[in-house]
Amino acid sequence: MAQLRLEEVTKVFGKVVAVKNFSLDVRDGEFIILVGPSGCGKTTTLRSIAGLEEVTSGEIYIGDRLVNDVPPKNRDIAMVFQNYALYPHMDVYRNMSFGLRLRKVPKDEIDKIVKRTAELLGIRELLDRKPKELSGGQRQRVALGRAIVRNPKVFLFDEPLSNLDAKLRIAMRAELLDLHQRLKTTTVYVTHDQLEAMTMGDRIVVMNEGLIQQVDDPQKVYDHPVNKYVAGFIGSPSMNFIDCALVKKNGNVYAKTKGMNLKIPQDKTKIAEKYINKEVTLGIRPEHISDATSKKSYEPGTTFKAHVWVVEPLGSEKLAHIKNEDDTLVARLEPYVQLKSGDTAEFVVNMNLAHIFDRETEETIF
Ligand SMILES: Nc1ncnc2c1ncn2[C@@H]1O[C@H](COP(=O)(O)OP(=O)(O)OP(=O)(O)O)[C@@H](O)[C@H]1O
Ligand SMILES: [Mg+2]
Repeated sequence: MAQLRLEEVTKVFGKVVAVKNFSLDVRDGEFIILVGPSGCGKTTTLRSIAGLEEVTSGEIYIGDRLVNDVPPKNRDIAMVFQNYALYPHMDVYRNMSFGLRLRKVPKDEIDKIVKRTAELLGIRELLDRKPKELSGGQRQRVALGRAIVRNPKVFLFDEPLSNLDAKLRIAMRAELLDLHQRLKTTTVYVTHDQLEAMTMGDRIVVMNEGLIQQVDDPQKVYDHPVNKYVAGFIGSPSMNFIDCALVKKNGNVYAKTKGMNLKIPQDKTKIAEKYINKEVTLGIRPEHISDATSKKSYEPGTTFKAHVWVVEPLGSEKLAHIKNEDDTLVARLEPYVQLKSGDTAEFVVNMNLAHIFDRETEETIF
C-alpha cells in the first residue's frame, strides 16, 4: 500500500492537451474516483500513473518515490481495463498466475496465492476453465484476480464494469467495495458514470477537458458543486438551469424570469444582493421540485405555475417534464401524484437547496 501524488501533471498529444496541470494527493488506502465525460483525460491520467504514457511535464510519486523515469513493470501497480484482456488460450489458473510465473515466484507459493485469491473472488471452481467458457462477470473477476495476486501498491481501474449488464454492474460494484474494505489497497477508479462515482468513492475527482473541476467527498460534490459544470454532471436527472435576474423587493431578493419569481432564502440575501440586476443562472435539482397539492404547507415565494408536457412513471417515482414560459424543467415527483400531460399545475421549489451561478464565469455564487 502507498499514497500516490501527482504534481502539475500535463500530457500533450500533438495539439491535444489531454491532461492539464493535474495535482492530486491520494491517501494510503483511499478509493478515489476520476469521473468526467468522454475525452476529458481520465484514461490518459491512469496510463500516466501506470507509466504507459510519458508525461509532458509534472511529477508522479508512489509512496515517496518519484516514478517519472521508472518503467511500468517496476512501479508496483496493477491496472484493470474495460476489456479484461485475458489470455484466451490459458485457463483461469494460468491467467491469474501468469505475472507471478514471469517473476519466478516459487510454484507452491503461486499455488497458495492463486487459490486464496480465487476463494476471495468466488471463482475457486472455475480455475480450469478457459475465458470463453466464462460469463462476463466471471471474466471480470478473473481480471481482478490477476491484478490482486500481484499484491500491488496501487490499483488502477479503467471503467472495469462498463461491459457488464446493469444488474451485474450493481453486484460487482458492491463486490469491488467489499474487496477494497478487506485489502485496503490505494485505488484510482475511472468511470464516466456519475452514479458509480457517487456510490463507490471516498472522494470524487470531477474532470472536464483535461482539467480538475472539483475534488471532494461525494455528498459535498452533490451539495456544494463549485461550478455549473459539476452541478450539471453529478446528479440524475441533471440539475435544471434557468437564466434569470436577481431583483430586490421589500427587503427580499427574488430570482425572476418571465414566469417565475422565487424568493432567495434570508441567509443568502447578503451574497445575492451583490448580483442585483446582473444576469445569473438559477440551478434547481429535479428532486427539489414538488407538486404543490402534495405539500401540506410551503413558504410563500417558492412556487411557480407550469404546463405539464410529459410524465414518465418509473414505479418508485414520476419524472415530469414541465414548461414555464421559455423554460423546460424536470421534476422528480412522488409516484402517486395525479398529474398528466396537458395539465397546468403549481409546483414548489425547495429554495434552501437551490443554487445561483455567475452566468459569465459559471462559478457557483451559492
Ligand atoms: N495516443 C493518443 N494520441 C493522440 N491523442 C490522444 C491519444 N490518447 C488520447 N488522446 C486524446 O486525449 C484526450 C483524452 O483522452 P482520454 O482517453 O484520456 O479520455 P477519457 O476521459 O479516458 O475518455 P473516455 O471516457 O472516452 O475513455 C482525447 O481528446 C483523446 O482524443
Ligand atoms: Mg478512457
